[in-house]
Amino acid sequence: MGFDKIERAFRNSGRFYLRAFDSLPSTNTYLFEQGKNGAPEWSVVIAEEQTAGKGRQQRRWESPGGKSILFSLLLRPQLETRYLNLINLFTALTLAQYLEARARVHSGTAPAISLKWPNDLFIRGKKLSGILLEASFAAERLDYLVIGIGLNVNQEPADFSDEIRPAATSLKLATGREWEREPLLAGFLDAFYESYPRFFPGNFASLVQRYKEKVLFLGEPISVDSGSRRIRGVFRDLTAEGYLVLEQNGRKRLITTGDVFGWEREG
Ligand code: BTN
Repeated sequence: MGFDKIERAFRNSGRFYLRAFDSLPSTNTYLFEQGKNGAPEWSVVIAEEQTAGKGRQQRRWESPGGKSILFSLLLRPQLETRYLNLINLFTALTLAQYLEARARVHSGTAPAISLKWPNDLFIRGKKLSGILLEASFAAERLDYLVIGIGLNVNQEPADFSDEIRPAATSLKLATGREWEREPLLAGFLDAFYESYPRFFPGNFASLVQRYKEKVLFLGEPISVDSGSRRIRGVFRDLTAEGYLVLEQNGRKRLITTGDVFGWEREG
């Protein structure tokens, strides 16, 4: 990706502290280290490829160069720890809304993008983007957080490994056209920057409400994998903190992390 091209595509210059690399092990790991050294809020690190891209739940994120957008953003919000998960919800919602709007402008129609709790973007049952949030604490308070985003842009099925091919999609596959990555990235960062103060530090109820309109499986039977355990129930609601309320035999149970599956995945 062209650094100058990204810079030129921002609505306003000077909002972000941008660094772009041809290759990094992981933009999250890099920026997390920079955070320890005092990197300012709105630092952004982009890599064309990652050699050790990280996914949620200790998984890896396939990150060959040329077809996707791989980047991390550092924030230093004054946020109570219990509301941290709302950053996941906000990021996923903002990215989905931005991509839908962009596709509508450029292709006339927009593929419906759904959210899978807490922060995956899906199109027609396949994963388009994943988000990895990493937080650093000082004296039990949130010090900074790094939001890492991997967005599949121009991949064809052959560009995905055998392992993820059946479950992965890209903007190109969903819209039938190539996407220029630099303006897409700059446009998302601008959208995030402008939308963020509308919800943080306090407008959480409306954030959760908007998220609920796009989330998959609400009101439906799901199973949740959290590390070693798989539990089943009905996805009843989200709490004010963005946690999932699972109902099992009439009892409500709070899920703070995990992978959600609809029941077609059972067996
Ligand atoms: C997931 O769905 O498991 C989350 C994937 C997050 C991937 C992105 S790519 C940029 C950033 N750097 C990483 O190492 N991971 C995140």
